[in-house]
Amino acid sequence: MSFKDKIKIIGLKEIPLIKKGDNISDIIIKALDRNGLPLQDGDIIVIAQTIISKSSGRTRNLNEIVPSEKALEIYKSIMPKTKLHGLPEKKPQLIQAILDESEQIIKSQHVLITETNHGFICADAGIDKSNVEGEGIVTLLPKNPDNEAEKIRITLKNKTKKEIAIIISDSFGRPFRLGAIGTAIGVSGINPILDVRGKKDLFGYELQTTIIGQVDSIAAAAQLVMGESDEGIPIVLIRGYNFEFNEKTSIKSILRKKEIDIFRDNEVNMINKLLKNRRSYKLPFAPRIVDKKIIEECIELARWAPSAHNGQFWRYTILERDKTRVNLIDKMNEKLRNDLQKNGKSKEFIKLKIEGTRNNFVKAPILIILCLDSLDLEKYPDPERTQNEFILGIQSISSSATYLLLAFEMKKLAACWYCAPIFAKDIIKESLQLPDTYIPMAFFTVGYPLKAVKAPNRKELKDILFEPII
Ligand SMILES: Cc1cc2nc3c(=O)[nH]c(=O)nc-3n(C[C@H](O)[C@H](O)[C@H](O)COP(=O)(O)O)c2cc1C
Repeated sequence: MSFKDKIKIIGLKEIPLIKKGDNISDIIIKALDRNGLPLQDGDIIVIAQTIISKSSGRTRNLNEIVPSEKALEIYKSIMPKTKLHGLPEKKPQLIQAILDESEQIIKSQHVLITETNHGFICADAGIDKSNVEGEGIVTLLPKNPDNEAEKIRITLKNKTKKEIAIIISDSFGRPFRLGAIGTAIGVSGINPILDVRGKKDLFGYELQTTIIGQVDSIAAAAQLVMGESDEGIPIVLIRGYNFEFNEKTSIKSILRKKEIDIFRDNEVNMINKLLKNRRSYKLPFAPRIVDKKIIEECIELARWAPSAHNGQFWRYTILERDKTRVNLIDKMNEKLRNDLQKNGKSKEFIKLKIEGTRNNFVKAPILIILCLDSLDLEKYPDPERTQNEFILGIQSISSSATYLLLAFEMKKLAACWYCAPIFAKDIIKESLQLPDTYIPMAFFTVGYPLKAVKAPNRKELKDILFEPII
């Protein structure tokens, strides 16, 4: 396929004001006739979203909307910022309409950027007041712009027998530049992108990464003719652009997947990353001091974990690298040595094990002990419920421990959870003079990482989902 060196961008004049129920395909054919431009194979028609929305009844009267608590909350938070930037006030009713059209709020500052239910990221969910008559009436983006484009393409093809493409466009702002440009929101007959990877450049080099956003480029070119205000040209004919006709296309194919969209620093992405990136760090730590205040900030977050009957049985003790810690680990190792001897382990094995724990627990910049405070457990007269209460206590402190590990990850600290204290409860309690009701349960070594750690294997979802056969 070769490019032609001339492309015509022709605005169709004298398009009437569009009302609900108008047939856009008929209006296009009549306009082409009037303008003396019978359709040709390979033509592209770019249609402004506003007329598709109006004809399909995708309008809303803001005066009839009752804003929700959330809309009012957003209104209060963005109102001072919009004022500061000299932007028009967004009424709670408009915010509600935006929320109704959105899957997710991306940014709520002096502008409100959302991901629409279609997956487009744009200001105000594409809701528009311009070029709509009637006080309080706004247009919403078409429900399914690809479908609308497809319907028009097929009708025009049936009537004219020409293979053409349709693009429905809107003007979207851009994150890093001022100025809105025409953007395709629905397509039919043309691929949204033109993949030129593998083709040669002027110097014969193979293009490695170039993918051209052809429908957005066409929509942007058409926008120059359409204008934004009172030009009254919502339909533009593009003639001479050489493209490969394709019946099965959708604008959805160019919406970046959330997981790989590096510009989307939303909570979902951040939490996903946090959950997946956290690792148990068992390697030597970087020779860098860890501020105890940061550790306390992490423990502060671990307070928010769920716990059975909100018992909050977790108690944390921070041990910095001092003599108390060394003495404690030495005493624990004495017990470990005895336990391993009782197990009949070889001297060599015992030596390595003791060295390993000493390295882990003495050298870590910070060692945290997590205890379960049995004082807060419910008391029962029977052993079964007493045991169950103890189990739920353990489950609860484990949830706090998980929060703690995630908080470390968030602060770029590396950590590992060790169960050694379970085997040396009395030694820990005695050495650190812990209250009688404390039951030592876990150690966490914490510091800055020296190396990256690879994730160990995870079971597949299907392996951990048990479907009962009923
Ligand atoms: C309750 C609990 C006890 C653990 N005890 C130890 C331990 O004593 N020694 C150790 O090397 N790792 C211990 N770990 C860390 C696990 O080995 C680690 O979480 C697991 O291999 C998964 O790796 P990941 O945390 O990097 O995803 C413990 C983890 C948990 C949750």
